[in-house]
This record gives sequence, structure tokens and C-alpha cells, in this order.
Amino acid sequence: MAFALTPEGEREVDELLTRYPERRASLLPVLWLCQRQNGWISSEVVDYVSQRLDLSTATVRGVVTFYTMFFEEPVGENVVWVCRTLSCDLRGGKAIQDHLENKLGCTAGHTSSDGKFTLLKAECLAACGQAPMVQINDRYYENLDVEILDRIIEAHVTRGAEAAADEFSTHATFGAPSKAPISTAPPPPSPEAVRLASQPPPAPEPVGDES
Ligand code: FES
Repeated sequence: MAFALTPEGEREVDELLTRYPERRASLLPVLWLCQRQNGWISSEVVDYVSQRLDLSTATVRGVVTFYTMFFEEPVGENVVWVCRTLSCDLRGGKAIQDHLENKLGCTAGHTSSDGKFTLLKAECLAACGQAPMVQINDRYYENLDVEILDRIIEAHVTRGAEAAADEFSTHATFGAPSKAPISTAPPPPSPEAVRLASQPPPAPEPVGDES
């Protein structure tokens, strides 16, 4: 069935189109609007966007496949991105991923059987100073340990994403910052971080014969 935005969504597209000199410049925000309504970018969404912005479907699909934030398949009610880049990994990112896989009953790249969570791995989400962290939907949860993570997941299940974000999220990826830091006591550094920090610095390179 053909995809259509709600009347409100259509008005938002009209407004977006006034902001840019070319229609194609609004491609990212229009795709984002569509994904928020549909949950993912189906081929029907690609058709809609290509017609609305007067672009080829290949152009639209090329953008969708380039950006990992656009989903090419249906996802769960909540999408959990677990950061697995260096700063988070040194402070327990792998343990966070393992714990989520056990708790949700699915490996990264998959959706829990109840459809409530899709678990994905992410490259650095630019919150290295608060590692380890995850992004759930469009909210950041930082300075995590598995106990706090359990409370965050339970809050999503029992009270919904918005209530969970109000209580636990440190800030949003877009929009206004939310209220409180998740924890005032960051977790201790991992053994690997301690090992790396205790290594002597490399000897300086000789700069040439000065005699
Ligand atoms: S390494 Fe995880 S936020 Fe940068």
C-alpha cells in the first residue's frame, strides 16, 4: 500500500521545503519525518519521498543506505544502540552489550521476540567522557553499569520510553536536554584501561646528528 504522511506531517514537509533553495536539500529531514511515522524506511516510503521531492528512487535509496540511523527493515518499539568504540569499550562496553543480549534474548542486529527492543551496535556516539553509554531511541544514557541498565530497560517496558527518558536519560540527541545525570559516581576503569595507562610512554625518536 502506498505510504502517505499525516496531514500534520505534510505541513511539516511544506515548511521544510521553504527553508532550502533546492528541494533535495530537505531530503534528510523529510526521511526522518517519514521514519518517525512509519518506524522504518520501506520501499513505499522511498517512493513517496522521491515523488514529493522530485528525486529518483536511486538517489533516495542511496541516502537511506548510507546513514545507519535510517532503518531498512522494521525495528522494535525501542531501538537500543550500544556504543562499542574505544572509550566505551575500555569502560565496559562489551559487558554492556553482553548483558543486553542476555536480558533481551537477542544478539546485536536483532529484535527481541516480544518486539519491544531492537539491539544494535554503534560507533562512537560522541559521549566518550560519560562512557560506557547507550542510545535508546533518541536519548542518551551514560555512565552505565548493568544495575542501572536493568532499571532503564524495565522502565521502558513498564512505563514507556518517555517516562524512562525523564528519569534516566542524560540528554537527547536532538531537542532540549533532559533533567539529571544518570549517576554521580562513574564506574571504575577496566583492567585494560589501567594496563594501558600504566605503560611508559614511547622513547622519543632521534632528531638527527647535531655534531
Ligand atoms: S566511544 Fe562511546 S561515545 Fe565515544
